[in-house]
Amino acid sequence: MTDLATLQSDALARIDGATDADALEALRIEYLGKQGSISALMKTLGKMTPEERQEQAPKIQGARTAVADAITARKEGFEAEELERKLAEERLDLTLPTPQAPKGSVHPVSQVMDELAEIFADLGFSVATGPEIEDDWHNFTALNMAETHPARAMHDTFYFPDEDSEGQSASSSEAVGQKERMLLRTHTSPVQIRSMVEQGAPIRIIAPGRVYRSDSDATHTPMFHQVEGLVIDKDINLGHLKWTLETFLKAFFERDDIVLRLRPSYFPFTEPSVEVDVGWQDVNGRRVLGGDGDAPGHGWMELLGSGMVNRRVIEFAGLDPDEWQGFAFGVGVDRLAMLKYGMDDLRAFFDGDLRWLGHYGFSPFDQPTISAGVGAGA
Ligand code: DAH
Repeated sequence: MTDLATLQSDALARIDGATDADALEALRIEYLGKQGSISALMKTLGKMTPEERQEQAPKIQGARTAVADAITARKEGFEAEELERKLAEERLDLTLPTPQAPKGSVHPVSQVMDELAEIFADLGFSVATGPEIEDDWHNFTALNMAETHPARAMHDTFYFPDEDSEGQSASSSEAVGQKERMLLRTHTSPVQIRSMVEQGAPIRIIAPGRVYRSDSDATHTPMFHQVEGLVIDKDINLGHLKWTLETFLKAFFERDDIVLRLRPSYFPFTEPSVEVDVGWQDVNGRRVLGGDGDAPGHGWMELLGSGMVNRRVIEFAGLDPDEWQGFAFGVGVDRLAMLKYGMDDLRAFFDGDLRWLGHYGFSPFDQPTISAGVGAGA
């Protein structure tokens, strides 16, 4: 029976050496198929004597089982290899960076307004708002600018057409007499009035927002932004105003050497009124805020208007000026942005040019924490 043993060991060696499923299948047919060599041996059992069969049958069966098992094992091996290969080949590479989604940027005006809100929040101010379509009383009269007041002429106001003259029916004719002429607010100061009327005293607010004047050149646009500040309390004086503005400007420009000069001025809604100048110094031909405004090579730049709230304004807003006093200020937000971030044409702010926005805009994801500057050294 060495033939059988040889056949078996040959078969096992060839199965072991088979390189793919097709070669293995060919071997299965060769040994175990209908015409296969081991199948042929099985057939010989029928012609044997019972004794011979008893002796040969287990050997032939054993060889058949060994070959069949080897083929099955090898086949499973191929299948596992195939699976491995597929897994390796079809793997999703999750480390691949995804395509960049388009990312917007924060407009410098929005950025500066956020910075202002943050700085003043640290000083105990909240943010107030008022309508951009305002009435004559809030925009002028209650701010001590009567109908005939010459200061009104300075505002280049956009008025809305009178409703009656437009032929619209005045629905409640009794109210018409008191109805105020509507306009686009020329400053954020009417929010002072609205805040006093609505919330009473004490008050500490800033009111950032859009304002409108019929004006247009490199430093003026028909729409621009202001932030109004108002503090109403007891025993408030000009010292509080100067300290507040100084603290604000140091935090905003991120410089400790900001100096202010209060210059007498006139606004109908403040008495006394001051124009606030900020000191600058010449650094390589550029005016940089900070330093001593009076020293050689230094100077003063007019920055904002302010003063102690005129007692007539406090009265107009329904508060007792003998009990409540305060200060107010108004400053151009666009101007602050231009000074801080070095932009020189105001008109570009509102052109909506994406290249400009891409260059001067701010990432919405890494906002500066300006508030760390307020009082940090105090
Ligand atoms: N409303 C003024 C303007 O638009 C700015 C201003 C000046 C606001 C003095 C104030 C103030 O609150 O006290 O020119």
